[in-house]
Amino acid sequence: MLTTRFTARLGVEHPVALAPMGGAAGGALAAAVSNGGGLGLLGVGSAKDPAWVERELDLVAQGTDRPWGAGFQCWAAPVRVLEQVLERGPAAIMLAFGDPRPYLDAVRRSDAALIVMVTDLAEAHTAVEVGADVIVAQGTDAGGHGGSRGTIGFVPVVADLAGDVPVLAAGGIADGRGVAAALALGADGALLGTRFLATPEALGGPVQEKAVLEGGSEDTDRSSVVDIAHESGWPARWTGRALRTPFSDRWRLHEDALRSDPAARAEFRAAEERGDPDATVVWAGESLDLVTDLVPAADLVGVIAGETEAAVRRSAGAVR
Ligand SMILES: Cc1cc2nc3c(=O)[nH]c(=O)nc-3n(C[C@H](O)[C@H](O)[C@H](O)COP(=O)(O)O)c2cc1C
Repeated sequence: MLTTRFTARLGVEHPVALAPMGGAAGGALAAAVSNGGGLGLLGVGSAKDPAWVERELDLVAQGTDRPWGAGFQCWAAPVRVLEQVLERGPAAIMLAFGDPRPYLDAVRRSDAALIVMVTDLAEAHTAVEVGADVIVAQGTDAGGHGGSRGTIGFVPVVADLAGDVPVLAAGGIADGRGVAAALALGADGALLGTRFLATPEALGGPVQEKAVLEGGSEDTDRSSVVDIAHESGWPARWTGRALRTPFSDRWRLHEDALRSDPAARAEFRAAEERGDPDATVVWAGESLDLVTDLVPAADLVGVIAGETEAAVRRSAGAVR
């Protein structure tokens, strides 16, 4: 068994956390990851629908008696939804993509650990300043939204900056070799998103599942095209990595033109609503090459933990 500052701080068995993926990490997936010995984080995202949040909270809170948490997008999520979640006694709250300060009082009034995800050094300094209990260093390999730092260069510098604060690496990690690499980089574990999309518990349905299983890393790219088309309000400094589509290929180098083309945006949204596969957005990351089978999430946590131990032993065995 691998014990790190993260497993000790959160009271979990394995140094693996589920990324709180909006639209993918619902209560069933979060509960399954926690039941498998990892930290399951419910993806509250921008928290547009409090009734949905309540339903998913029921699933996670009733689905596990182990530590679980929830994650929010700071640029969008109202504090009242955070308070709604805190009433259910999560072990952790993860804040990402924006200023964590408006949420601090509510988190600190609870027993939840504060996890802050960072995508560049300025955000990492802020996470330390606000007293994060865990910092997630997310590299650009990640599926979904993120920045431009490469995971392998970014994690050690955040680990140095964080000092006594445990760090999780995120972005491009899908198996135990990746988690072991995170440990070697100075992190205390890893937060995985894309890998958990290929589990029966993930939200998203058969189209997403098939796309994730059949797609490869080189089929993804990172841009603001989907955010512009959705008129979602996502700040442009965080781009999104998703499977490429004819639409994203058409507009990737012409984002300003798309901003001033309401007809093209409306056409994309209409195609998406019709379920046109060419307009289906599947957020996914660089680790996609390693995602080839559908595995129940609790089992997956155990497999990844076993692989991590094997990889750590293999590296240690090379030392003379
Ligand atoms: C489908 C999907 C949705 C995501 N949604 C969110 C989100 O709502 N909030 C958030 O903080 N991060 C979100 N992320 C990013 C994850 O937190 C995490 O950093 C990323 O998945 C890690 O990289 P990986 O996908 O290579 O494992 C999302 C990622 C994916 C793949």
